[in-house]
Amino acid sequence: MAYVLVTGGTGFIGSHTVVELIKAGRDVLIVDSLINSKKTVLDQIKKITGVKPKFIKADLVDENAVTRIFTDNEIDSVIHFAGLKAVGESVKIPLMYYQNNLISTLNILNNMLAHGVDKLVFSSSATVYGDPASVPIREDFPLSATNPYGRTKLMIEQILSDMAKAIPHVRFSVLRYFNPIGAHESGHLGEDPRGIPNNLVPYVARVAAGILPQVNVFGNDYKTHDGTGVRDYIHVVDLARAHLAALKRLDETNETIERFNIGTGKGYSVLDVIHAYEKAAGVKIPYVITERRSGDIDACYADPTKAKEILHWEAEYDLDRMCRDSVRFLEMYPEGIPEDASF
Ligand code: UFG
Repeated sequence: MAYVLVTGGTGFIGSHTVVELIKAGRDVLIVDSLINSKKTVLDQIKKITGVKPKFIKADLVDENAVTRIFTDNEIDSVIHFAGLKAVGESVKIPLMYYQNNLISTLNILNNMLAHGVDKLVFSSSATVYGDPASVPIREDFPLSATNPYGRTKLMIEQILSDMAKAIPHVRFSVLRYFNPIGAHESGHLGEDPRGIPNNLVPYVARVAAGILPQVNVFGNDYKTHDGTGVRDYIHVVDLARAHLAALKRLDETNETIERFNIGTGKGYSVLDVIHAYEKAAGVKIPYVITERRSGDIDACYADPTKAKEILHWEAEYDLDRMCRDSVRFLEMYPEGIPEDASF
C-alpha cells in the first residue's frame, strides 16, 4: 500500500496522528527536520502501536530533498503538519517564518502535482479568524491575521484555494485547529516543547510539577466570565482522529477544497484550566495576574457543526480528561522524552 506522507510527524499533533493512522492500518512515512522534536518519538510510537514508522530526516525547504522523497516513495496522500508555530518568535524573525512555512508548502505542492498525488490535509489554525466579531466561530467568518505566523497559515490557505480552482483533480482538506492539549493515554507521547513553554497548558503542567514557580495569567480584564482569556481546548487524540476523518472524506468527495473547524465548541478561561489541572494533578497551582500579552483576544471557540455533519467527527474527551492525560505524561517523562534511544 502507498504511504500517507506525514510532514512534521514527530511533533506533538503529528505524532499522535501517526499513532491513529497506524492503528487504522495505514503505512506511514514521516518526514521531519527534528528542529523542534526528537527522533526518539519514533520509539515512543512503536511502544504504543508495535510499529516503528518509516522516517526521513529532511528540511522541506530543500527542494531537492522533497523531490527525492516523492521520487523514491509511492505516496497516496499527504498530511502537512511541518512548520514553525511560535507567534511571538514570528514577530521577531518574520522572514524565517515566511521562508520556512511557505517554501516548504510550495515544494510539497509542486511535487504532488509532478507525481500525481492529489490529496492533502493541511494544518491550519483558528488564528486565521483574527479577532472574531462573535463566538462561536463558523468556517464562513471573515479571515484575517495579526502576526507573521498567522499570515503564513492564511497565505497557504489562499494558495490551496487558488489551486483548487485551477486543478479539478486535487482534493484539499483544511483543518483549522483550536487549542490542542493533553497527551496519549499511555503516557508515552505528549507535548514536549524545548525551553520555557509559550502556551498555557505546557506552562501550567511545569508549575504543577514544581519545575516552574508560578503561572503568569496574562490579564483578567477580558470580556469573559472571569476576565481571563477563553479558548477552545481540544484533546490532541481527538484532533488526531479528525485527520483520519478528513483523509476518508478526501477519498469520497468531489469537492476540491473544504475547510473545517476542529474544536470542541466549548470555551474555558485561563482560571478554569488552572483549576481543572489542579484537580487532575492533586496539587495547588500558584498564579499571579500580569499584563495582557500583546495580540491576545478575549474569546475564541469553535462552532464544530460542519465537521460533525460532513466528516462525521466530533471531540469526545473533556477538559478533565485532557488534564489527566497531560499529568500522566509529565509524571512519566518529567524531563520530556529522552533524546537518547538507549533509555
Ligand atoms: N496564557 C496565560 N499565561 C501563559 C500562557 C497563556 O495566561 O503563560 C493565556 C493566554 O493569554 C490565552 C490562553 O492562555 O488567553 C491561551 O494561550 P496559548 O498561548 O496557550 O494559546 P493561544 O490561544 O494564544 O494560541 C494558540 C496557538 C497558536 C494559534 C492559536 C489559534 O498557540 O499557534 O492558538 O487560536 F494560532
